[in-house]
This record gives sequence, structure tokens and C-alpha cells, in this order.
Amino acid sequence: MFKLPELPWPKTSLAPHMSVETIDFHYGKHHAAYVNKLNLLTKDTPKANMTLEQLIKTEKPNTPLFNQAAQTWNHTFFWHSIGPNAGGAPQGKISTCINESFGSFEAFKKQFSDVATGHFGSGWAWLVREENSNKLKVMQTHDANNPMSENLVPVLACDVWEHAYYID
Ligand code: FE2
Repeated sequence: MFKLPELPWPKTSLAPHMSVETIDFHYGKHHAAYVNKLNLLTKDTPKANMTLEQLIKTEKPNTPLFNQAAQTWNHTFFWHSIGPNAGGAPQGKISTCINESFGSFEAFKKQFSDVATGHFGSGWAWLVREENSNKLKVMQTHDANNPMSENLVPVLACDVWEHAYYID
């Protein structure tokens, strides 16, 4: 059985940017529904014992099982990409990688924001790393799609589905 993971922060802690009502819908209804549907689709099959990463890398994108597995993973990753008192300039190795890949943190922020706000329809904005490399890039995926399908390593995600924001 796949399980809905706990949120990494109190659901009251993102207001006023994200209200408790938004978290209740986005996490408590949408994210939970992806997990429930994934369990229905994998019930009594060997796929119930696979990891989400294995399903994302082996299932054909845009198929029902892929979509539920990827949306389950994407949302958990998103909750860990945001947080109260988070943000600001990065430090250490990630700072070096961002500067080498984008020129500056400001340039990265602009590129990431442009991709996230410019996405048409439902999808995700990502900061990703190439496998076996420190080279970072910004990309977008449509619907449930995940960079791991293209052998890229997600570093940061922003949900740009309307369901993430419409209440607030
Ligand atoms: Fe979402």
C-alpha cells in the first residue's frame, strides 16, 4: 500500500501565502486522492510493491498508473520544496552549482519564475540536475510528468496546477 506522507510543517504555517483551507484541499483531498487511486490501480499486482520512483521510471508517461504515481511523488516533493521561514539565498554546494549553471541566484530565480508563471495549463516547474553532473537547469513538465522519466534528478519543484492556488 502506498501511503500519504505527513506534511513536513504545520498546515497553519504557510499563511497568508497558502491558507489552511488550501492545504486541506491540496494535500487532504487532491494529494490523498492520487494515493488512493494509485492503491486501487496497483491492488493485488506486483506493482504494489514497487517504489514510486520505479513506477515513474518504468510506466509509460500519461497513462493512468503513471499519472497517479507521479502526482503522488510530485506532491510529496513539492511539500518539501516549500516551508515556513524558508527561501532566501542558497549556501554551500547548491549555491556554487546555481551560480555556475545560471550565472547568479537572481538569474536562476527569474528563469524559474518565468517558467512557472508562463506554463500553460496544468503542470510543474522544476529545478533539475543532470545525472552524474552538477549542471542544473530549469524545466517545465505538463500534467503529472516528472523529470525522472528523462533521467534528470529533481532538485526543486513548484506545482503550477490551478488546484494549488485557486482558493487563495
Ligand atoms: Fe497539486
